[in-house]
Amino acid sequence: MNHFTRRQFLEAGAAFTTLSTFRLDALANGPVSLRAHAAAKGIAFGSSFSTSYMSDAAYTQLIADQCCILVPEIELKWAALRPSPTAFDFNRADALCKFASTRNMLFRGHTLVWEQSLPSWFEGYVTSSNVERVMTNHIASVVGHYAGKISSWDVVNEAIQVEDGRADGLKVTPWLRLFGPGYIETAFRVAHEADPKAILVYNENWIEAEDQGSERKRRAVLSFLTQLKKKNVPVHGLGIQSHIHADMKVTGPNLRRFLQEVEDLGLSILITELDFNDQRLPGDVPTRDRLVAERYEIYLTFLLQFKSVKTILTWGLSDRYTWRSYVSKRADGLPVRPLPYDADLKPTLSWEAIARAFDGASQR
Ligand code: XIL
Repeated sequence: MNHFTRRQFLEAGAAFTTLSTFRLDALANGPVSLRAHAAAKGIAFGSSFSTSYMSDAAYTQLIADQCCILVPEIELKWAALRPSPTAFDFNRADALCKFASTRNMLFRGHTLVWEQSLPSWFEGYVTSSNVERVMTNHIASVVGHYAGKISSWDVVNEAIQVEDGRADGLKVTPWLRLFGPGYIETAFRVAHEADPKAILVYNENWIEAEDQGSERKRRAVLSFLTQLKKKNVPVHGLGIQSHIHADMKVTGPNLRRFLQEVEDLGLSILITELDFNDQRLPGDVPTRDRLVAERYEIYLTFLLQFKSVKTILTWGLSDRYTWRSYVSKRADGLPVRPLPYDADLKPTLSWEAIARAFDGASQR
């Protein structure tokens, strides 16, 4: 377990302004929910969710009870929204937006520009001559459709990859090849115009661990965000996805320095897709649950020293529905257990660990 000195706590408490106009205390929903534990400290806790789980009444109820913020797992991605180059299908995303608002949850948007989850027509239709029109039309239409209903948007997702060898660290994706490096700046400007009140987030993966590769990536992300801020690009937050191998070290001086630097840039920090990959942990369930719970508590306690961390979402709430069951299969064939509820919707040790981390956090 990590212990923090009083000085570290004070340093971490550097003043930070909130862009959010939402009142979290009004969203607490019952005494035994993660949302209540979080909201007591001014923190929004939530999860991803999908329309494909809505036929499961017990799970849907659990989401509404435990979350004060919801993000669609797939419904706002291009592949889901764009049946053709000229059409938008908002039906499924609208259903989630309505569910969030009727159950008193904030709603966040994921994601406007990503090189994955693109529709099959994308390749072959989008060229360097129409890419700007196609991208800006998508962003203006989608952000405009949800203006006033989405608290924060992941405008650009996973755009940096140092290994691709570019001096600016940008990942070589169809967006970069067709549009050039300016696509990110343009995306943020168009999103801001379409909904000036939404918090606009740059969302990134593999920037949590202490290893050298993650550190190189953090340096590239920081210098990129610094450039955007210098150019007055409307970027308001950094999303740290936090899909983490449970056996990796993630709470150390490299991450601490990075969080401080991001905070110093005046950006909010959102934990957008937290789950711990238990693929390489021992099979024994009590041992595995104890290790995963420990990771949750250590990681969240570390992050919550930073006052700019005010939003925490897990990528799913129950092991019944987790992408890890198909992307992080265990060699021994046992079901994965990465989330705070098990496949029977019973809270695991991770639930208690998350609640304890919220209880130990200072007021935001
Ligand atoms: C994943 C979903 O969970 C899957 O169901 C889908 O098939 C692919 O996308 N980082 C992200 C998310 O930003 O959008 C990804 O979600 C998980 C990794």
